[in-house]
Amino acid sequence: MSWTERHPYVFAIRLTDARNSADASARVVPAGADGPLVADERVAAHCEARGTPQAGAVRELWHPDGPVLVVGVGAQTLGEWRAAGAVAVRAMTGDGPLRVLLPAAVPDDAMRALVEGLWLGGYHVRTPRTEAVDVQLTGAPTDGAEARLRAAIEQARAVASAVWFARDLTNAPASEKNPAWFADQVVDAASGRVDLSVTVRDEQRLAAEGFGALLAVGGGSATPPRLVEMSYRPPAARQHIVLVGKGITFDTGGISIKTREGMKLMKKDMAGAAAVVAATLAAADLRLPVRVTTLAPLAENAVSGSAYRPGDVIEHYDGTTTETTNSDAEGRLVLADALGYAVRDLRPDVVVDLATLTGANAVALGRRTAALYSHNDDLAAALVSAGEMAGEAMWQLPLPDDYTDLLRSDLADRHSSPAGGPGSVVAALFLREFLGDRVGDWAHLDMSAPSWSDSADGVLSKGATGWGAHMLVRWLERQGEAG
Ligand code: BES
Ligand code: MN
Ligand code: ZN
Repeated sequence: MSWTERHPYVFAIRLTDARNSADASARVVPAGADGPLVADERVAAHCEARGTPQAGAVRELWHPDGPVLVVGVGAQTLGEWRAAGAVAVRAMTGDGPLRVLLPAAVPDDAMRALVEGLWLGGYHVRTPRTEAVDVQLTGAPTDGAEARLRAAIEQARAVASAVWFARDLTNAPASEKNPAWFADQVVDAASGRVDLSVTVRDEQRLAAEGFGALLAVGGGSATPPRLVEMSYRPPAARQHIVLVGKGITFDTGGISIKTREGMKLMKKDMAGAAAVVAATLAAADLRLPVRVTTLAPLAENAVSGSAYRPGDVIEHYDGTTTETTNSDAEGRLVLADALGYAVRDLRPDVVVDLATLTGANAVALGRRTAALYSHNDDLAAALVSAGEMAGEAMWQLPLPDDYTDLLRSDLADRHSSPAGGPGSVVAALFLREFLGDRVGDWAHLDMSAPSWSDSADGVLSKGATGWGAHMLVRWLERQGEAG
């Protein structure tokens, strides 16, 4: 079975006020700091005696109506609701639906986060188990509340299917995942969505149009490069946002080959492309009123007689040249072509790129936090805030001019990978060269570290995390509101 065929992305969350739970595998009761949120004598007595579970923790309880899972929601922040959903779905046994009991007055953003947690926590590389979840309201929601709750569930569905899609693409082995395959997945996923179209440039067209760096990086592979361009153009949009994602389907390092350990996880080197593509699908699903053009430069950085060499000079889409001192610094090269194209041909209002760009990201910020670079403080703050809502952390690092001299080359307009600077910062400074007059409306996210998780943790599954897809959806929602 192919990696993306197996999920129809049809998740069932039924919103119901029926009390019949005879067929449920377990019922879930959320409990805040002051006790359970729905009235039940036994659950209340249990919490009284043993204390309520911590946020994100679960406790199983004997109950005459069948098993009850008490999940802690702490102070009921979005992150705590999401963590509760994830822990509940992981504690699920049997095939029957999991039935979550909620007060009818539950706020819609809490409902959304809970459902996100149920779906995201239920992701598993091989055996998705989230198709049977009931969210049961104890009592009838009042005036308009039910419509709002249903809308919140639809938002959660769009986010969860985006994150699942990004995780699936990133978990897929490179034996299957070459640039053409990735492009096909995007074309398939986009078909049938309103106001959304996809263009795929093959190697001939890339050559004819001057994408020299993408062709150089992909030149060593038996599977040639592609450029995916998604265009979501809703009629009411006023802003034009361009998203760019690094799509290296496998990074051997090329002639400057990686170590055995360093190469092990390099099928994930397209996680940036996966996140931007997935977020664009969600934007179309939610009919967000913002124009989005999404670029995924796709290539395999392979070793062969036709691979580009350290010391080669390549010409970018924008006509400038780069001396490629290390073929393992391939991500910035393919991004540079896409950024140059965005700035010259698309005239965007804002440009945001996501890339598994450097190992230095994890050295500086640890395994869960992306590095954020921008000269635009409002844009940076909006992305950080979207990340907080999504539970995806980032930390802003500077773009100091004292390293720009390092980028100078005798042979070309610049060097790709000078020695001696802070790796993630120098990579960002390199990308900045391609932003032209859009440099003040650009943000770069180096998300090498948080793109992968070695174990399941909260809403993260073991393996690809889909980092960035959820944050981008939240940010695009806000951009749509701002007009
Ligand atoms: N894909 C890697 C970065 C990476 C490393 C992502 C570890 C995730 C985990 C990137 O193409 C790369 O090789 N970067 C080099 C840059 C250097 C050659 C200037 C690096 O970080 O060492
Ligand atoms: Mn590399
Ligand atoms: Zn790479």
